[in-house]
Amino acid sequence: MDAVQLKGRSFLTLKDFTKEEILYFISLAEKLKMRKKQGILGESLKGKNIALLFEKPSTRTRCAFTIGCVDEGAHPEYLGKDDIQLGKKESIEDTARVLGRMFDGIEFRGFAHKSVEILAEYSKVPVWNGLTDEYHPTQVLADFLTIKEHLGRLKGIQFVYIGDGRNNVANSLMIGCTKIGLHCKIISPKSLQPKENLVKECEGYAEKSGASLTITEDTSFVKGADVIYTDVWVSMGEEEKAKERLTLLKPYQVNEELMDKTGNNHTLLLHCLPAVKGNEVTEEVFEKHAEEIFDEAENRMHTIKAVMVATLGDYLP
Ligand code: CP
Ligand code: NVA
Repeated sequence: MDAVQLKGRSFLTLKDFTKEEILYFISLAEKLKMRKKQGILGESLKGKNIALLFEKPSTRTRCAFTIGCVDEGAHPEYLGKDDIQLGKKESIEDTARVLGRMFDGIEFRGFAHKSVEILAEYSKVPVWNGLTDEYHPTQVLADFLTIKEHLGRLKGIQFVYIGDGRNNVANSLMIGCTKIGLHCKIISPKSLQPKENLVKECEGYAEKSGASLTITEDTSFVKGADVIYTDVWVSMGEEEKAKERLTLLKPYQVNEELMDKTGNNHTLLLHCLPAVKGNEVTEEVFEKHAEEIFDEAENRMHTIKAVMVATLGDYLP
């Protein structure tokens, strides 16, 4: 895969990338990870200035972008929700044009997906989506790298997402799995299943990659899972829904009984984190799978670095 085709591009959703391009980001992350473990840092982003815009809080994504920048010679500048006027006293279009004159790349985490699209259109520099209400694409690269490290492959993996099936993480996983060829099951109550138009789009990707896509309310569909994935029941910005979600999602908790239903003893448990233990996952099951869950968290950094290097970097390892 020629990285030149990725240079200058924004990373807003996995819909915009081919299977080969997604796999390229993952293999570049593997290389960068190996080099970092050997103590070798790069200069791919030397002299670049990167803006990190956060309307919502973050531990992993913020740290991954910051360390990714510094490891490759760039200067990261954190701009939190109270630091700038984004969409309040200044339009997103105007802020984008200002930042585009000063910065070489922009990360955005926030609410409306439209905001990250406007930033990309008006800034004219690569913009990376660090999570919106609809998508969390950098997360999926880390998830896939972790699956590859633990299970040795991606294609043909039986992947099950259980919980709030229409949130940003579920949407991006469904796109990623169907593009790459993992068999994807989304298990969630009817009212929290993914939007029909996105399911249709993903069915199209699945046809091309050989993946299958199943959306169901039935938790017995965890049978045969190589990977179980869950996320919080109440995403950032949806706090008023907390009570209703807890009732609705209780039967979808990842606990010993659910893990047993897979019928496998090699099943990985992944969680994008932060986790609310006692809700979507029990403490006991979480701790049993802490190794892969924290590998996944570490891999946020290697994969986010790969996205910046591939789309903005001057040299490739
Ligand atoms: N998984 C994830 O995006 O974590 P943060 O919210 O801490 O960035
Ligand atoms: N769905 C979660 C993901 C956090 C990384 C949220 O949006 O809060």
